[in-house]
Amino acid sequence: MHTKCLGHNIFFSKVIDSTNDWAKELAKLGAQEGTVVIAETQTAGHGRLSREWISPKGGLWFSVILRPETNSTEAANLMFIAGLAVARVLHKLYGLNTEVKWPNDVLVDGKKVCGILGETNAAYKIASFVILGIGINANFDVDSALPEALRETVTSLQTMLGQKVKLEELFMALMEEIERLYGTHKAVGFPTILGEWKKYAGFLNKSVEVACANERLIGLACDVDCEGALLLKLKDGRIKRILVGDVSLPEEP
Ligand code: BTN
Repeated sequence: MHTKCLGHNIFFSKVIDSTNDWAKELAKLGAQEGTVVIAETQTAGHGRLSREWISPKGGLWFSVILRPETNSTEAANLMFIAGLAVARVLHKLYGLNTEVKWPNDVLVDGKKVCGILGETNAAYKIASFVILGIGINANFDVDSALPEALRETVTSLQTMLGQKVKLEELFMALMEEIERLYGTHKAVGFPTILGEWKKYAGFLNKSVEVACANERLIGLACDVDCEGALLLKLKDGRIKRILVGDVSLPEEP
């Protein structure tokens, strides 16, 4: 692997509750930047907003420990690095037309192929670690491996490509791309990463529905700002700034 730091220490387990939880424990114990936890299956994988993340065998489930020494907003922005890296690598290796959806899903043909869960020790002003948890639905068939309720909105690489992919090759390409983008982020800052991320953001300038807090808002997804917030233009012209929520796009006619 052609990385300076990412993936030099790898903890692998066949079965684990959650790679993010294990990575957090390791980070608290002082694991160095670039340490990765990876598992074949997770029994308690979790996603954003405390949702369950179903992690059958064949997926690529891993978490990377970063130590960016920035404040918690900048630390949260590192999630965009993961989304951009996945979108780029899936396009480069398999020619897939990938898109990113705010805040950090990666889609192929409008269906989710990857989810990203970022966690940081936000109790401190300066984050002493950030965990980038990345789940890619890779080598399993969606119809046989996932519950019916998910099949409308979720896909896998195997389902899209009609064949399995080499997980090691995919993993190594991701390590290299994440390291490259992390270097860019440190050298020139988040706006450059965000600009690149927006090139994949098919939801921008479209009418979307956003589920946030206890409401559902409909509006035009105008932009994502430099703190990673979604700017939604409501019907009455007001711009609503959303920090946490779920975007869905209406079906194409
Ligand atoms: C989401 O879309 O809600 C985020 C899903 C993140 C899933 C990954 S799989 C590896 C890592 N371990 C976890 O428990 N979650 C993340």
